[in-house]
Amino acid sequence: MREKLLQIAEEAEKAVEGAETVEAVEELRIKYLGKKGILTQVLRGMGALPPAERPLVGKLANEIKLRLENELVVRATKLKEREKAQKLATERIDVTLPGTCPFLGSLHPLTTVRAEIEDIFLGLGFQIVEGPEIELDYYNFEALNFPKDHPARDMQDTFFISDEVLLRTHTSPVQVRTFEKTAPNVPVKIIAPGKVYREDDDATHSPMFNQVEGFAVDTHIAFGDLKGVLDSFVRQMYGDQTRMRFRPSFFPFTEPSAEVDISCVICGGRGCRVCSHTGWLEILGAGMIHPRVLEVSGYDSEKFSGFAFGMGIERIAMLKYGVDNIRLFFDNDLRFLNQF
Ligand code: DAH
Repeated sequence: MREKLLQIAEEAEKAVEGAETVEAVEELRIKYLGKKGILTQVLRGMGALPPAERPLVGKLANEIKLRLENELVVRATKLKEREKAQKLATERIDVTLPGTCPFLGSLHPLTTVRAEIEDIFLGLGFQIVEGPEIELDYYNFEALNFPKDHPARDMQDTFFISDEVLLRTHTSPVQVRTFEKTAPNVPVKIIAPGKVYREDDDATHSPMFNQVEGFAVDTHIAFGDLKGVLDSFVRQMYGDQTRMRFRPSFFPFTEPSAEVDISCVICGGRGCRVCSHTGWLEILGAGMIHPRVLEVSGYDSEKFSGFAFGMGIERIAMLKYGVDNIRLFFDNDLRFLNQF
C-alpha cells in the first residue's frame, strides 16, 4: 500500500510540473483528488488493511493529499501569471479611440419653444401659472363674457363632457381663475401655458394643441403696455428686424381686441408663398381685458385695467422653424424630431 501511494505521488507530482495550462492543472486535480480520483480510491480501500497498519498509511496518504493539493495551487497560480504576462506583452488597447456613445434623446421642439416663450416672459417680470384642461363652462365661456347660446362660442367648438364640463378651448380661463385669487390686489403679471382642445383638424389645426395666455392687471395699464410687451417678445423670439402690426378684431373678453401680425419670417415682408404674398403672418390675439371680466372676478374696473394676449405654441414653432404641417409635431417621426 505504501509503495503504491508513493508511486502515485511521484507520478502525480511529475504530471503537475508538466502541466502547461490552467485547464490541464484542473484536469489533474480531478484525476487524482476528485470524487472518483486515483488517490481518493486508494484512501477508500484502506478498510481492507490490517488495523495495525492503518494509522501509518493513513498519515502518509493525508500528507500526500495535502502536498498534492498545494502543488496544484502553486502550479495554477504560476500558469495564470504567465498567461497574464503574455497578454500584457501582446495585447494592446488604444485608450485614445473614441468610446461608444450611448443614444441620447433630446427635447421635443414644442417643449423647447414653450421654454423659450417662458424665459422671455419671465425676463419681463411675468410669473407662470397653470390651469386645468378639463374646465367648467363658467371659466371657459361664461365668465369670459361668452353668454350661453352666444354665437361667439361657435369660434371655439369643443368637446363637452356634460352641459357644464368641457375640455378647455383656450388658456384664457386661467385669467378668471387667477383673478378670483388675486383680486383686489395688483399688480398681476401672469403667463399660463398648456394644452387646449378644439374640434378642428387640418394642416395648421389640431384637435389638441398648446397655447400660452398672458395677462397683466394694474392701476394704469394701457394699450401701449400691451404693445411694448409684445414687441419685446416678438423681437426676442424672431429677431430684432421683426416688425409687428395690430389689426382690429373681436373677442368677447377684450375691448378693444386685436389680431397681431409679424413681418414674414421667410421673406422679411416682401411677400412670398408662406405669407400668401401679404408680407405678414398672424401670430396671436390680444386686447384690453373687458371690464366685465374684471368685475366678475372681483376687480373694480373703474380703478383697474389690464391687457391680455393668447398665442398658439405650435404656430410660433411652425413660423420659427418653417414647418408647414402641424401633424409633424405629433407623429413622433424621428426623422423629423432629430432635426431639432
Ligand atoms: N383665447 C383666444 C383664442 O384662443 C386667444 C386670445 C385672444 C387670448 C385675445 C387673449 C386675448 O387673451 O386677449 O382664440
